[in-house]
Amino acid sequence: MDFLSSLATLTIHWGALLFVFLLFVAVVTVAVMYWVDTHQTVHTIRRNYPVVGRFRYLFEHLGEFFRQYFFAMDREERPFDRAERSWAYRAAKKVDTTIAFGSTRSLETPGDIFFLNCAFPTLDEDAAQPKEICIGEFTAKTPYRTRSVVNISGMSFGALSKPAVQALSKGARKAGIWMNTGEGGLSPYHLEGGCDLVFQIGTAKYGVRNHEGQLDDAKLLSLAEHQNVRMFEIKMSQGAKPGKGGCCRAQR
Ligand SMILES: Cc1cc2nc3c(=O)[nH]c(=O)nc-3n(C[C@H](O)[C@H](O)[C@H](O)COP(=O)(O)O)c2cc1C
Repeated sequence: MDFLSSLATLTIHWGALLFVFLLFVAVVTVAVMYWVDTHQTVHTIRRNYPVVGRFRYLFEHLGEFFRQYFFAMDREERPFDRAERSWAYRAAKKVDTTIAFGSTRSLETPGDIFFLNCAFPTLDEDAAQPKEICIGEFTAKTPYRTRSVVNISGMSFGALSKPAVQALSKGARKAGIWMNTGEGGLSPYHLEGGCDLVFQIGTAKYGVRNHEGQLDDAKLLSLAEHQNVRMFEIKMSQGAKPGKGGCCRAQR
């Protein structure tokens, strides 16, 4: 019992001493800060509000983390908001990135684009023609003018079958839109429908390469002479199907 009571007395004694010591250190630290703050000439806040002014810098620093984790909305940050970042994290981990119905974007900003079902067919007098755009107005001998907004993206013959290319070509003609050949070269089936064509030059240069695999200027010129080939597109690299690509051997 004696031992316990002397241990308790000793603990209180040293505890009190430690407390007084820490208090002393705190008072001295605050006094030093006060002196430093009132004598420095760099930070106005610290000079006018010695010691407490320092909290501003601390909170400014912490605010960044608080905002990021607690206060910032999913679509608020720049250059990439939280929704975009978490999409990228999921994709990097090969976790499903499918996003369900309902947008988290603000869709009230002027200029936002909507694709909506038309409850009733649009009347001719209400229909607005898309604005004409001109590609190569100042640079091309034959600039390309079009009003089409939705076109057919590059899908190479080889990846697509003959009837598919024929159907797309005819459909594009009817719809007044352009069709991209994809990197597999130009086939007779692309020309069948008579639509505008964009010839895609892929990394393997199918359709415009010589035997050494270099760009063949003569082939390129003869392609450009086709009335329907309105533009050339240079594909810089393969993204969707690495190692594969177009397989139009006849066009090599
Ligand atoms: C069968 C098929 C073949 C494709 N071939 C090409 C190609 O040769 N060159 C190219 O740039 N993209 C090619 N793509 C990619 C498409 O042009 C397009 O970028 C892709 O399908 C994404 O658009 P989507 O989401 O509307 O399908 C091909 C896509 C498909 C489905």
